[in-house]
Amino acid sequence: MKILVTGCRGMLGQTLMRRLPIYPGLNGAAVIGVDLAEADLTEPSQVTDLFQRIQPDWVIHCAAWTDVDGAESHREAAMKINGLATELVAAACNQYNAGLSYISTDYVFNGQGGALGYSEDAVRDPINFYGLSKARGEDAVEAMQSPWQIVRTSWLFGHGPSNFPKTMRRLLSEKPCLKVVNDQWGCPTFADDLADVLGFLVSDGSRGIFHGTNFGPCTWHELAIEVATLMGLDPSVVVPCTTNEFPTPALRPACSILQSHNLEALGCESRPSWQDAVKRYIELLESGKTEHP
Ligand SMILES: NC(=O)c1ccc[n+]([C@@H]2O[C@H](COP(=O)([O-])OP(=O)(O)OC[C@H]3O[C@@H](n4cnc5c(N)ncnc54)[C@H](OP(=O)(O)O)[C@@H]3O)[C@@H](O)[C@H]2O)c1
Repeated sequence: MKILVTGCRGMLGQTLMRRLPIYPGLNGAAVIGVDLAEADLTEPSQVTDLFQRIQPDWVIHCAAWTDVDGAESHREAAMKINGLATELVAAACNQYNAGLSYISTDYVFNGQGGALGYSEDAVRDPINFYGLSKARGEDAVEAMQSPWQIVRTSWLFGHGPSNFPKTMRRLLSEKPCLKVVNDQWGCPTFADDLADVLGFLVSDGSRGIFHGTNFGPCTWHELAIEVATLMGLDPSVVVPCTTNEFPTPALRPACSILQSHNLEALGCESRPSWQDAVKRYIELLESGKTEHP
């Protein structure tokens, strides 16, 4: 089996490149990565050339515009990569009878769905442009003839220049105390654990929408407290505040907890809790073994 990973130098992409080749269910599949330097996926001819050259059996489409606030002021660029490029990749998968796993986001929801969060078939209603552009990508994938999977994730952290736990760790070592938003709920996700969920889904091949996160919800404040505690600090150095105190160009959903019924129904092994995931990630940071060049 030949698996093509787009966005292979991004946070999730580079994790997939490391973990998929050793995922037991994939029996040593060939994993080929591409990023913007090899092919601009917003250019139809480059997508055509890429598929002709690689002829993949399955594609994991991670390439994206991921700057949520920047998407508000760069709408065309964000829509091009999240919407148009996904349409082009979906069409090429149809042509080559290749399966597609499209990585999407909790930000396709408006955050007003209640404390239990969203099931996979909940109605999309994004409240920021990034979410809208990713929802366009979902539309294109759902219309495919080839096998398709939409895999929504949230609050992703892992190898790469910046992510929330890493930023908290840096700020907590620089400042005596820190204000962190305590009125947004979501599910943190370690890229290593999501890569294993994707290994499971690709080897399974089922069609549909799946929610791939670590187990359990929290607020950003609770996540920051966990980081502080793992650093041996007094948790009271992390002070709760409201979203209104930290206005951002893009609105954030207040509660975008993702329920993972479809993944559980397939028998995907129980996902580690977010606390366990953050612990492993902070230990990795402490060991100095994590960063990519
Ligand atoms: N990060 C999160 O918290 C989060 C949460 C929910 C869902 N997701 C989704 O998860 C997926 C992976 O996220 P991530 O954080 O790993 O992303 P990332 O680190 O930003 O990586 C995205 C990659 O896509 C590449 N790319 C951008 N435009 C491209 C183009 N026109 N053609 C080809 N490649 C292009 C980027 O290259 P350059 O760096 O050279 O631009 C980058 O290597 C995305 O689909 C994202 O929407 C992420």
